[in-house]
Amino acid sequence: MNFLDVAPAPVRQPGVIKLQGPEAFAGMRNAGRLTAEALDLVTDIVKPGTTTEAIDKLLFQFAMDHGAYPATLNYRGYRYSCCTSINHVVCHGQPNDKPLREGDIVNIDYTMIVDGWHGDSSRMYLVGETPRRAARLVEVTYEAMMRGIAAIRPSAHLGDIGHAIQTYAEGERCSVVRDFCGHGLGQLFHDEPNVLHYGRRGEGAELKPGMIFTVEPMINLGRPHVKVLGDGWTAVTRDRSLSAQFEHSVGVTETGVEIFTLSPRGYTQPPYASA
Ligand code: MF3
Ligand code: CO
Ligand code: CO
Repeated sequence: MNFLDVAPAPVRQPGVIKLQGPEAFAGMRNAGRLTAEALDLVTDIVKPGTTTEAIDKLLFQFAMDHGAYPATLNYRGYRYSCCTSINHVVCHGQPNDKPLREGDIVNIDYTMIVDGWHGDSSRMYLVGETPRRAARLVEVTYEAMMRGIAAIRPSAHLGDIGHAIQTYAEGERCSVVRDFCGHGLGQLFHDEPNVLHYGRRGEGAELKPGMIFTVEPMINLGRPHVKVLGDGWTAVTRDRSLSAQFEHSVGVTETGVEIFTLSPRGYTQPPYASA
């Protein structure tokens, strides 16, 4: 007879935030880097005429080529390897055969499961020449995410992240979507805690080394309200104003924060240098 120590399957327990160790950070580093590499690759094909289906195919194939799996595929009935959210689509846009058009702004959100660890990241891409107000929204949204991430360190609170994002975005006369939030992740795709992109300093759970979660603000040019279309997935702004989003997966360290999904090519904000 042989004996084997087995770890219990990871589960989400309401109100329980996992503090993860060096093995988790190593796994997340690897999953995050590959996810970011895939988003770098997408840059090469985003142009007028490209379909979001073609982007989805590229991302599916990228996962296959790297012994990984796209976390969204068959997740709660979702059928694609990524979400592609164009213009007034806030999030969870489904890839289709309609070509991207000059002037569109599109968010590509991709999550790879690599050796059991989830790397979750999204970026905005500009299709050809975009109107100034669209490009400005994208800049504001990137800056909002980075200000949220900059608020992360041990003994800060979740509310400090939301507060940093909200005060900046609203100061730029934009609004913060309330209906979707960031989330803990690791061996689970969506774990505790919920990471709100609005809030007050000092509110919410205290941040501790070992916490791993996403920061993924959705920022609108108009009002914050969203509705989900009849397909059950696509979330759009009620007033049809433009919406943008960026997402990084991060971990709280002893001294601050580690971003797992930084671009290997150094593509931070669009327009990304063409390869
Ligand atoms: N990647 C998204 C997130 O940031 C989740 C998409 S779930 C899907 O959490 F089912 F819509 F794909
Ligand atoms: Co996410
Ligand atoms: Co995501």
